[in-house]
Amino acid sequence: MLTCRICGASVREFVDFGRQPLSDAFRKPDDTSEEYFFRLAVGACESCAMVQLVEEVPRDRMFHADYPYHSSGSALMREHFGRTAQEFLETELSGDDPFIVEIGCNDGVMLSAVHEAGVRHLGVEPSAGVGEVARSKGVRVLTEFFEDSTARAVRDEHGPADVIFSANTICHIPYLESIFLGVDALLKPDGVFVFEDPYWGDIVERRSFDQIYDEHFYFFTATSVRAAARRYGFDLVDVRRLGVHGGEVRYSIARPEARVPTAAVAELLAEEEARGLVTRETLDGFAAGVAGIRDDLVALLKDLKDRGGRVVAYGATAKSATVTNYCGIGPDLVSKICDSTPAKQGRLAPGSHIPVVPSGEFAEPYPDYALLFAWNHAEEIIAKEPAFRDGGGRWILYVPEVHVVE
Ligand code: SAH
Ligand code: TYD
Repeated sequence: MLTCRICGASVREFVDFGRQPLSDAFRKPDDTSEEYFFRLAVGACESCAMVQLVEEVPRDRMFHADYPYHSSGSALMREHFGRTAQEFLETELSGDDPFIVEIGCNDGVMLSAVHEAGVRHLGVEPSAGVGEVARSKGVRVLTEFFEDSTARAVRDEHGPADVIFSANTICHIPYLESIFLGVDALLKPDGVFVFEDPYWGDIVERRSFDQIYDEHFYFFTATSVRAAARRYGFDLVDVRRLGVHGGEVRYSIARPEARVPTAAVAELLAEEEARGLVTRETLDGFAAGVAGIRDDLVALLKDLKDRGGRVVAYGATAKSATVTNYCGIGPDLVSKICDSTPAKQGRLAPGSHIPVVPSGEFAEPYPDYALLFAWNHAEEIIAKEPAFRDGGGRWILYVPEVHVVE
């Protein structure tokens, strides 16, 4: 029996993507070592409603010195985190000598603004390469995985935190109990733990199955986050829906005696109940929808190839590993992936071995079609490449369904 990583009750598996590589393991072309594969499948806990992977990848395989994802690669995300920092500075961090800790600060996209404001901060970031980039911006970084023991060490050295923030990282961490124990040790009695992650409600609605890959272990809802928070002595005191990364929710967690939950919490809980986000019908419908997207996308790419169309992809996202490996898309159907991240360029995408090239090569020459793997940055990317469309090129999107943008 599969059991819930949080509460131990039984988990029902509802979608299986088969054997998948590590989504951010871009390979050097001359690397002949064996690729690591695991079974990517998702289930939902029948008691606490937590949606979760059924197999866990050891964390050091994913997060290490060469972790290639740089948060600052998108203007949209730079703006988003700049605003986030500003909001904290004006509210939670406006008191006397405040202190904020960020779990998974990556290249300092959020904390650099906190540093510039002269506010005490610490980023806890196990991937040394991106952490070094944050340091070069003046951000203070501890190269460790955040967990109970790290949190205690941070408290001993720096004192308790007013805010513990985390973006797109808590959902990466199977060992949530250790995270909450650490938050309990590090957070001031009236402090707040704020994290934002892809929202299961949006994934269901947009059928964005490519949000499912090794690093995304949990797919949160207000219902499941509140159950987890309560299990560890906290409560869910606020929620806010965000448009970034295809739809996220920012959850605020605090000690029950410290803060009163806002009306937004009750509203989102009621909405989730009404939508039946983890009912059998919803979950099996999601799985069927995903299989439909796979069949349609492969059929479209094969048809374009048969008719002599040149197809490349844009955005070597972690998400795209699930798309290519689940659908069986290789260099025969998509000749290259254009991406602005130096650490991914000149490498082969995991599993599919599609070459990743600098985004400048998109225009050399423009293809007939471009499969937009970074669909969450569609506006920014499409605006960057007007000559592609003007010359007759067409973007292909696959969520919520496969379509060519006219
Ligand atoms: N916060 C950034 C980065 C998200 S990528 C953003 O929203 O863009 C996820 C990051 O979490 C990676 O940089 C990874 O190294 C880090 N990470 C993974 N496990 C962690 C842990 N236990 N503690 C702290 N950071 C962790
Ligand atoms: P993203 O969708 O943010 O995350 P994930 O890897 O978690 O799925 O990744 C966006 C990718 O797209 C990243 O590799 C950078 C690339 N990119 C470009 O090449 N050009 C752009 O203009 C933008 C915004 C992103």
